[in-house]
Amino acid sequence: MQIGQYLTEEHRKCDQIYAQAEEAVSKGDWESARKLFEEFKEKTLLHFRKEEEVLFPEFEEKTGIVMGPTQVMRHEHAQARDLLERLEKAIESRDREAFLSAGESLMILIQQHNMKEEQILYPMSDQHLSSEEMVEKLSALGEV
Ligand SMILES: [Fe+2]
Ligand SMILES: [Fe+2]
Repeated sequence: MQIGQYLTEEHRKCDQIYAQAEEAVSKGDWESARKLFEEFKEKTLLHFRKEEEVLFPEFEEKTGIVMGPTQVMRHEHAQARDLLERLEKAIESRDREAFLSAGESLMILIQQHNMKEEQILYPMSDQHLSSEEMVEKLSALGEV
């Protein structure tokens, strides 16, 4: 399997769970919303860790591009982590409006972020790194 395919599937899984969490919030089903949100948060943070601890350092080492796309991606992960905290607070206080508003910001950020990874960073990674070795290292951190 290629690196791009492997990590793109993780993006899709996270998207699906977020959609379910949002639906639960809209319906006012806070018990399900909390569980689904926690699952979404865990998967998203694990995916970020795989990129930050495995993919980005390998990419930088093999391509020599240190101040490029990986820096932008790290900065966007930090922004997403802040929004995840806002969403968690909204869930705790059962604040539907706050959740949906922070959730919309997060989805816009993540969709643009994922698009850049899927169209630029992952194809470059597949071009410069060994897919087999990378997928093995990424999988060692756990399953999204
Ligand atoms: Fe990312
Ligand atoms: Fe990603």
